[in-house]
Amino acid sequence: MVGVTKRLPRFFIASVARRYVAGKDIESAVNVMRKLSSEGACFTIDVLGEDILNLDETQSLMDEYDRVLDAIVDNNLDANMSIKPTAFGLLIDEEKAYENIERLLRNAAENDIFVRLDMEDHRVTQPTIDIVLAMHAKGLRNVGTVLQSRLLRTADDIDTICDQLGGAADFRICKGVYLEHESISLTEYSTIVSAMNAHIDQILDRSAYAGVASHDWPVIKHTLSALEARGMGPDNPDPRDGCAENRNGKGLGYEFQMLLGVRGNIRRRLAKEGHRTRIYVPYGERWYEYSMRRLDENPDVAMHIVKSIFMPWTNRR
Ligand code: FDA
Repeated sequence: MVGVTKRLPRFFIASVARRYVAGKDIESAVNVMRKLSSEGACFTIDVLGEDILNLDETQSLMDEYDRVLDAIVDNNLDANMSIKPTAFGLLIDEEKAYENIERLLRNAAENDIFVRLDMEDHRVTQPTIDIVLAMHAKGLRNVGTVLQSRLLRTADDIDTICDQLGGAADFRICKGVYLEHESISLTEYSTIVSAMNAHIDQILDRSAYAGVASHDWPVIKHTLSALEARGMGPDNPDPRDGCAENRNGKGLGYEFQMLLGVRGNIRRRLAKEGHRTRIYVPYGERWYEYSMRRLDENPDVAMHIVKSIFMPWTNRR
């Protein structure tokens, strides 16, 4: 499936990608977000770019993120930002990557905007967590990471981060798109779903913020019951002891997150019930490389896309 998909002409890939990528520039992304605001959604904006070859490339990315910040403020968007640490130089020069990320966080903090560090493959799991802890230690609390439930280490990572950050810990929890080796990762769908549900419970019980990133009904259903069991929900101020107060642009201790173009019907239903729903909005010149890399990392993505084209009822925009 991946092989066939990758041999499709670029114009065809472009027409499919249009559903999942907001365009080449921030103006296109703003237009997409304006339209989707009417569906009760908020956003996280991601500039496509990762696996850079030299540090010069980080500068144009930093400039682009400055434009994103301006666009959020100028257009009064209910949005925060997602970044990939490797695109800021993490695998080339760690010190420089820290400097770049700190600069971005300080600019974002001036406007009370949150920044999420996306989680990439296992080579950068610990370095990414370390960045979040180091930035909090510098007083920059507008940052949180993503953890991947397929990784065997994740329950320990939740505890370590919560031990250090208390109620200021803020997670996006997802299954993890990178297919890692079985020595460090679960590989079966059912065990990954069970692990993700357990991680959601753990995050909620540690009074941390839970960004539940999944389009999978068993995970969403579990989250809804877990919230109800803890007295959390659309109309309830977060009742957990030690939770952070005044999280600008956040929900009542939790939110649901979905990718642009995926399972809009479930997202709209959650929003209608009053839950905070966030759409991940990627944009950028490098949409083609991004799409191809997602296929390489996880062949299921090709399957989802083919299903969306030929069985559109399985994935409503
Ligand atoms: P599952 O894979 O079972 O999908 C359920 C259904 O959703 C599918 O049947 C299909 O209909 C639809 N679907 C899911 N993914 C689709 C896709 N790509 N295209 C079309 N349809 C799709 N991973 C990571 O390693 N690091 C990260 O930082 C992030 N960040 C992130 C942010 C957000 C907002 C989301 C929603 C996801 C991520 N992920 C991620 C990806 C995540 O780890 C996971 O790979 C995908 O969300 C797919 O898992 P689901 O739980 O959605 O279930």
